[in-house]
Amino acid sequence: AGTLGAAAAEKGRYFGAAVAANHLGEAAYATTLDTEFNSATPENEMKWDAVESTRNSFTFGAADQIVGHAQGKGMKVRGHTLVWHSQLPGWVSGLGASDLRAAMNNHITQVMLHYKGKIHSWDVVNEAFQDGGSGARRSSPFQDKLGNGFIEEAFRTARAADPAAKLCYNDYNTDGANAKSNAVYAMVKDFKARGVPIDCVGFQSHFNSASPVPGDYRANLQRFADLGVDVQITELDIEGSGSSQAASYTTVVNACLDVSRCTGITVWGVTDKYSWRSGGTPLLFDGNYAKKPAYTAVLTALGGS
Ligand code: G3I
Repeated sequence: AGTLGAAAAEKGRYFGAAVAANHLGEAAYATTLDTEFNSATPENEMKWDAVESTRNSFTFGAADQIVGHAQGKGMKVRGHTLVWHSQLPGWVSGLGASDLRAAMNNHITQVMLHYKGKIHSWDVVNEAFQDGGSGARRSSPFQDKLGNGFIEEAFRTARAADPAAKLCYNDYNTDGANAKSNAVYAMVKDFKARGVPIDCVGFQSHFNSASPVPGDYRANLQRFADLGVDVQITELDIEGSGSSQAASYTTVVNACLDVSRCTGITVWGVTDKYSWRSGGTPLLFDGNYAKKPAYTAVLTALGGS
């Protein structure tokens, strides 16, 4: 296979990119996306502030544009994200507990019903744990007003809305074994033991020199898979360039291929030109859409050429 998506498919996996609706009109952007990737994640367009900036008034235009484009090209779509402390409209933060619970469940239900049957995996809850050594939950309107049970409630509501979608918990700095990933692990283990619906764990995998690919990356993916969930690499990008960046990408792809329940990889953007790391070069295509050494490394690791 000569593309990332086709090579991944031969390994029984998808290879996706985060997509921004406002770049789809740029020919090189759309061509690169359509040629190379077989899964798309809206980078911002499905977040709460984008789809429900006013209570119970939903605007799906930009997200629909991405979903329509992806479906027209035969790509799968990941849903990102339903419950997150960031990009959250002010009206949500101002609610009291019972109102907040109702708003959270309504948001999950309405968004998932709108896309029912079109999303292969949803990031139901994003980034609910703190960094550092505590393993504690992150402060957020949901955590502070609803308590630890908000995650479980969100997953139960999501299962009812679209029973066919895979339901994921997604986070960063959980890529190796550490206090944060141990806390997520304990939650997933508890959910599986109690029958709380969860199907997958997303490992964002934003790497740079201060936070490189951990030595136990594969082992960490495997220990989660051993709990009976799929694992997905959901927002991969690796700062750097040349052969060292390429080598890190190879490590990540090989780790996913080594874990049978690692079902796919998404890179967090199509081109360095539009990376969220402004001025950074963490992706597979450079600012002119030329293939980087990292691209060749990924394709080779996937068994393509
Ligand atoms: O759309 C508005 C525009 O109307 C406004 O004029 C402009 C002025 O600041 O802002 C635009 O919104 C920006 C938005 O991206 C769309 O471009 C926001 O400021 C900016 O903060 C936002 O950044 C996004 C970031 O999440 C916000 O938290 C990045 O694009 C996006 O790549 C990033 O993605 C996150 C994942 O969702 C979760 N994991 C971490 C990852 C990287 O931070």
